Amino acid sequence: MPSQNFITGTLLLTESPSTTRLVPGTIHLRGQSIDAVELDPSQELDLSNPLLILPAFVDAHLHLPQYDSIGIDGLPLLEWLERAIFPAEARWEDAQHAADMTLRVARDLISFGTTAFAAYSTVHHAAAQAAIDTLATLNLTAHVGQVLMDQEAPAELTRPADRLIAECASLRAQGRVQPSINPRFAITCSRALLHAAGDLASKTGRFVQTHLAETVPECARVRELHEESTYTDVYAAAGLLSPNSLLAHAIHLSDHERATLSRARAIAAHCPTANRFLNSGVMDRRSLASASVPIALGSDIAGGPDRSMVRVARAMLDAAKQLGHKPPTAGEAWHAITAGNAALLGFEDLGVLRAHSRADLILARPTIPLTAPDPLSTLLYAWDDRWIESVLVAGVPAYTR
Ligand code: GUN
Ligand code: ZN
Repeated sequence: MPSQNFITGTLLLTESPSTTRLVPGTIHLRGQSIDAVELDPSQELDLSNPLLILPAFVDAHLHLPQYDSIGIDGLPLLEWLERAIFPAEARWEDAQHAADMTLRVARDLISFGTTAFAAYSTVHHAAAQAAIDTLATLNLTAHVGQVLMDQEAPAELTRPADRLIAECASLRAQGRVQPSINPRFAITCSRALLHAAGDLASKTGRFVQTHLAETVPECARVRELHEESTYTDVYAAAGLLSPNSLLAHAIHLSDHERATLSRARAIAAHCPTANRFLNSGVMDRRSLASASVPIALGSDIAGGPDRSMVRVARAMLDAAKQLGHKPPTAGEAWHAITAGNAALLGFEDLGVLRAHSRADLILARPTIPLTAPDPLSTLLYAWDDRWIESVLVAGVPAYTR
């Protein structure tokens, strides 16, 4: 007999943004998966002292080697990269350091409820493979890419384009961790490197991760370095836009560029905490959504200082309010950091409490009642990481408070 067990509590159901809600029920587990979800709507919803059962969080954009660089304040993006981030990334020349740091970072992310993500390593090939292998030992689900840079960065962090592409192509998947293709952004990549990365993406079907239009000076430098008339066209011409492309930030865009992203079904990774920390601009989520650009949500550690995806979700609402737009609902926010991000990243068995989903779960007990009229809003704004009692990865407790 396979072992079987169950958890009864208040379930966060995240099937769609508009129907995300709390319902009493029981999750039956079998091995690594959810065997069945039994809803009990006849039972009164416990909002005063519930055991919450949530699908674990998915982060659509973060930088593993930047984890210890959170909070280096006062520098705009390009100076911050040069003075704070590149020195930290240079330390990943030591692949053992990369493996050790990845293990520590991953355990910390799990304690915040994140069990799946799309991430960058560094330009170092051995470090990228070490990060992939280490994440797989923890049973996490991820896209992780070696950073591709062949210009406009310190010499120790650049490589010739052909070497980078050969190294990137030879990265091996491990467990549920897939290598992705991460040309850092159009400043640090030559035309040849971007086009070769696009070719590799179409040959392999791997995810592409890059940054797009995060700050005004960055956009100006891209115009100086590349011949295309817009930043988005630089990536389009290189074959880097597809439904498997994650474009972080996507703030300073024209309608034409939004239409280009939309036609390609390329994904904008909204990073509201990073945009605030680096003072890069406020992303107009409403315009992207109106143009039907798929929008994921990312912490962008260390540009974003917040490790909890709940705080990133809150910042998404704050950014919309700052622009005077109607913010997404709390239900939409909970959906975005679970099922929404999972679907966009191709993690179809994550983000939703349903039979056959993988049992990546958060068990949390709020210390204040989730008062009406919208318990999901109370949950979002009052959320405290100390509420997390345990986090399961593939049915096994990977963090216990
Ligand atoms: N643009 C290019 N590289 C980076 C990075 O590491 N972080 C952020 N926030 N933006 C970038
Ligand atoms: Zn980033």
